[in-house]
Amino acid sequence: MLFDVKPKEERKDLYDRDKEVDEIKESIERKVWLTVYGMRRLGKTSIVNVAVNDPNYIVVKVNLMRIYDPKKKKYPRSQFMGLFLESVNEVVRKYTMGGRVIRFISNILGIDEKSFLEFSLVKIRPKLKKFRSEDISSVVKELDELAKDNKKGLVIVFDEAQELMKVNGINFPSIFHDVYDYCKNTTVIFTGSMVGLVENMLKGLEYEKPFFGRFIRKIKVERFDEEKSKDFLIKGFKEEGIEVKEEVINEAVRRFDGIPGWLTFFGAEYSFRVKHGEKADINEIEMMAIEEVRREFKDFLLSTQSPERYSAVVISLDRLGGKGELSEVNKVVNSLIEEVPEPRVYEILNRLVNLGFLEKEGEEYTLPNDEPDRNGLVLAAKDILKNEK
Ligand SMILES: Nc1ncnc2c1ncn2[C@@H]1O[C@H](COP(=O)(O)OP(=O)(O)O)[C@@H](O)[C@H]1O
Ligand SMILES: [Mg+2]
Repeated sequence: MLFDVKPKEERKDLYDRDKEVDEIKESIERKVWLTVYGMRRLGKTSIVNVAVNDPNYIVVKVNLMRIYDPKKKKYPRSQFMGLFLESVNEVVRKYTMGGRVIRFISNILGIDEKSFLEFSLVKIRPKLKKFRSEDISSVVKELDELAKDNKKGLVIVFDEAQELMKVNGINFPSIFHDVYDYCKNTTVIFTGSMVGLVENMLKGLEYEKPFFGRFIRKIKVERFDEEKSKDFLIKGFKEEGIEVKEEVINEAVRRFDGIPGWLTFFGAEYSFRVKHGEKADINEIEMMAIEEVRREFKDFLLSTQSPERYSAVVISLDRLGGKGELSEVNKVVNSLIEEVPEPRVYEILNRLVNLGFLEKEGEEYTLPNDEPDRNGLVLAAKDILKNEK
């Protein structure tokens, strides 16, 4: 169903995106590593899920959203190891193979194979310290061999890969170089919402020991255009068996600005209400989306060094009609709160761009155009400034 709010897994549930899916599949065939990036809710996870859903691949999905916490500056090493091993565990169980891999990991952890297979956290958690960085590459080598013996390609997906940089005490560049050099049957896919951060991570990877002549392919996921947004909603409502007036569709497209995640959320919520005989009100549904962003962004603001300054920057952009150059933003910021040096405003603007909250076009910084993101950001910023005062 198009309006299923979970990330999609099946081709039939994914609207459009043939080009992206084909590019990913082609990269996997050629073992070209890639990153799939773009702002939140554009469908990166769905696109990658669908592309790797193929009997010719063995897929390890390491979903870093499961450890994501904006309030934490660092994640303990053992937390990442737990996530990695759980992801490997899911694979060996799904494909009911991997005796070698299971033996290998159980040996290092000093537990019996059954405990690993059951992924008994009580037994595993205290042993995670024994799992060293190098062991990650060794496990991948084992999986690479296993996939090859089964005439399949190994694909490893790091979803929201920028979080890797927050893991303490693991030398990822070294691990990735090892995997690149020794696992010829493996493709690694990184996805990231925090576009700038993912790029920095990859630059770090390439800088430390250049990937001589090899490169990591980039796929940028964009919004739907107006026509596709409309068509997506029309097809989605048809699947749900619900009739919706054209004005409602047009209004939703205007408010949600081609962001598949919001269109899906709107479609699901609207259909649910109609089916249950409730009032289906677009304003109410939009409010729910705004509240979600407001919560998310407030958590983020509270994790920064200076929530007040970040908030002032967002509010200034709003006052400037949603976009402005550094000097303009600086002026408004300094009228809102006491003295903030321009270089600091510059730093904050760029950090917000890197994190995917704002966009930069030429010299201009812009708030997102869709109502949920734009209002959610501004409301969170106002919440913070109100509290400070
Ligand atoms: N092309 C698409 N067709 C149908 N639903 C989509 C599409 N792209 C995204 N979605 C939906 O939008 C939401 C966000 O998608 P997700 O893949 O989680 O995005 P991201 O990983 O970029 O944040 C989910 O509810 C997903 O089902
Ligand atoms: Mg995602």
